[in-house]
Amino acid sequence: MLKVDNLTLHYGASQILWGVSLTARPGAVTAVMGTNGVGKTSLLRAIAGRHPYSGGTITLGGQVLDHPSAAQAAQAGIAYVPQGREIFPLLTVTENLQTGFACLPKSDHHIPDRIYDLFPVLKQMKNRRGGDLSGGQQQQLAIARALVARPKVLLLDEPTEGIQPNIIKQIGKVIELLRDEGEIAIILVEQFFDFAYGLADEFCVLNRGEVVLNQPASATPREVLLERVSI
Ligand SMILES: Nc1ncnc2c1ncn2[C@@H]1O[C@H](COP(=O)(O)OP(=O)(O)OP(=O)(O)O)[C@@H](O)[C@H]1O
Ligand SMILES: [Mg+2]
Repeated sequence: MLKVDNLTLHYGASQILWGVSLTARPGAVTAVMGTNGVGKTSLLRAIAGRHPYSGGTITLGGQVLDHPSAAQAAQAGIAYVPQGREIFPLLTVTENLQTGFACLPKSDHHIPDRIYDLFPVLKQMKNRRGGDLSGGQQQQLAIARALVARPKVLLLDEPTEGIQPNIIKQIGKVIELLRDEGEIAIILVEQFFDFAYGLADEFCVLNRGEVVLNQPASATPREVLLERVSI
């Protein structure tokens, strides 16, 4: 279980997150929602060790992660799929996947068949350069690369952004599969309302860096969520 408690974050003098708390449990999807600029990416970057937070705590499996670097967060089992994907355009699909090995012991430096079962298109395109894939294929590659690291927590930042509907469907299926296997805690940042609504077990809605709703999906009627998200 990942717990974020009372997190604050600044860029220079400007405060972006104000006491954000959320939880993500294995086998569940926590959807982080909110309009542009409310701090969703900043929150994920803090959890992934990509930007320092100024206050609060992050706990994984009962252990406090004390302001981890990106490498330490990865080593602890936190994998991050950034908004905009950030795949390496000049590396092949296989080489992109291999970059996920960085936090693993040498004995685990192989790409499990399962990755290609989840994303068959990546098998067909093993030797193609990342930059030559379509946007949807690049998104699948970014998720696959995160899974290569065998994470305990998967952070997905707007995986449907700019992606065509049939690939969105495939990505949704993969998230469902991972959720139902029960091993990985998933935090899904998403502005595609129905996509997030269909997958989430917990909602955390941000507005101007503050949590305005944080509760189980089962206790959240669609209209209540819609109203909070669009403040
Ligand atoms: N590196 C940075 N330096 C200064 N300000 C930043 C930086 N990155 C983000 N911000 C500001 O922090 C706020 C939150 O940005 P963030 O990217 O976390 O929002 P978001 O909810 O992910 O938005 P979007 O939905 O557009 O992706 C915004 O006001 C943004 O301008
Ligand atoms: Mg963002």
